[in-house]
Amino acid sequence: MALRKIVMEGDPILEKKAREVTEINGRICMILDDMLETMRENDGVGLAAPQVGILRRMFVVEWEDKVYELINPEILETSGSVCEDEGCLSLPGFFGEVERPAYVKIAGLNRQGEKVIYEGTGMLAKAFCHENDHLDGIPYWTKAKNLRRVEE
Ligand code: CO
Repeated sequence: MALRKIVMEGDPILEKKAREVTEINGRICMILDDMLETMRENDGVGLAAPQVGILRRMFVVEWEDKVYELINPEILETSGSVCEDEGCLSLPGFFGEVERPAYVKIAGLNRQGEKVIYEGTGMLAKAFCHENDHLDGIPYWTKAKNLRRVEE
């Protein structure tokens, strides 16, 4: 595994739509391993492939000691609405409020190529939506209210 450089706000790659993963091979698994390591090193909850310069539809999320890896994810169902602060490893030191569903059901493939379905509420729902938006080139700061720098 290796740490990857995180693409920062202002880089046009973060506003591009990522392409489907067509073949889950050793390279894809290596990128997922590197993404998890890079996310942990930077104390993140989620990281999407475009944030390490890979325009492919996959992300990792780690919440309450569980790792979620989703390849070609698709949000199946949402309900409710909450507006809370979010941050992003591509814009360190900033937070902003984004309206997200309170509940999310999301499907995708795991690294074995098997279909997986996850449900999330609270922080997990927020993370799934935030990372899924990265795959569509929609970083949270493009739709956040009250975006502000926070003292570290
Ligand atoms: Co982000």
